[in-house]
Amino acid sequence: STYSLAVVGGDGIGPDVTQAALAGVQAAAHRYGFTVRTTIFDLGAERFLRTGMVIDENTISELREHDAILLGAVGDPRVAPGVLEQGLIVALRVAFAQSVNIRPVRLYPGIESPVRGVTPENCDLVVIRENTEGLYTGGGSLAHAGSGNAVAIQNSISTAAATSEAVDFAFQLAQARRRRVTLCHKTNILLHAGQLWQETVDRIAERYPDVEHDYVHADAMCQHLPLDPGRFDVVVTDNLFGDIISDLGATVQGGLGLAASANFNPRGSAPSMYEPVHGSAPDIAGKGWANPAAAALSAALCLAGLGEREAALSLETAVASVLAELPAFAGPEMGSDTAGLGHRIAERVSIVDP
Ligand code: NAI
Ligand code: MG
Repeated sequence: STYSLAVVGGDGIGPDVTQAALAGVQAAAHRYGFTVRTTIFDLGAERFLRTGMVIDENTISELREHDAILLGAVGDPRVAPGVLEQGLIVALRVAFAQSVNIRPVRLYPGIESPVRGVTPENCDLVVIRENTEGLYTGGGSLAHAGSGNAVAIQNSISTAAATSEAVDFAFQLAQARRRRVTLCHKTNILLHAGQLWQETVDRIAERYPDVEHDYVHADAMCQHLPLDPGRFDVVVTDNLFGDIISDLGATVQGGLGLAASANFNPRGSAPSMYEPVHGSAPDIAGKGWANPAAAALSAALCLAGLGEREAALSLETAVASVLAELPAFAGPEMGSDTAGLGHRIAERVSIVDP
């Protein structure tokens, strides 16, 4: 089969890590006998500075024609914060109904977690974050801005529809893993949204009698996740809590250079989008130091999303095997280069036993 992949390298280290990840994708396609056709999209800071437009309807329609989107990162010191992040990434998540954000938190062998006691054996969970609603819908107002009487209202919206998609995905995933779903919220304070989430979990749980479920408050999660990651299998949560606890998860698993994510459309009505958790890292952009592992692991999620499970596993295994050989990871002290690691990953894809 042939897949069409839209490639949005974006800004800073984005294009470099995406290029390295694509080397792994093409190696996996070659090994497992399918074809990946890529279309490069010029989106991000340069395009915005040149045209004054982040993205237009035409480009959104072109992206929609693809089977999946591989994204590097956007964000540039010359552009006001949020213009690209909100205007491109959040906009695409909503436009393509990518209601499920998948963020695996896994410590790979050879990587040292900054948290004592975290090992590859006890650190293998997945955060499922509702990706289109909550506090991220952008609605609200700021009255008397800049004055001592300023009042900001930031609306949070939760619908049974999107919440159910995230929760149902979490249960499905748990069924194929260790069969435990943990709802993470703040039901004791955020009473309305909390009730909707808890009722959604209780209702959907009835369809998955072989999957256990429990509940942990978001603040307590910040203690349990680093100190006892082994108690979690699949954690399902809302947009804001998910953003925060998955960054915490990224730290536990060894850093942003290793954290992958998928913005998944569970209905298949539009393409899903795969991206590393990290941003454009302007501090190291252009130096060739960026770790491409997070982008390559995101590309593995992409292959899984396309239904190429074996290829996905071989790419993930190849990344893990290359990581295990590195003296240290992430950042300049790694002393390795982005493209070089991409080649090593690609080479390894053709020989690893997934
Ligand atoms: P960042 O993730 O870009 O960088 C944080 C720190 O981690 C930096 O010191 C950076 O050098 C390091 N780092 C990140 N990825 C790395 C990698 N692959 N290898 C080695 N080191 C790595 O976050 P920051 O600095 O807060 O944001 C920079 C820009 O990126 C901002 O404009 C921000 O808005 C944007 N951003 C975009 C995201 C996206 O495209 N989804 C996500 C997060 C931030
Ligand atoms: Mg974040």
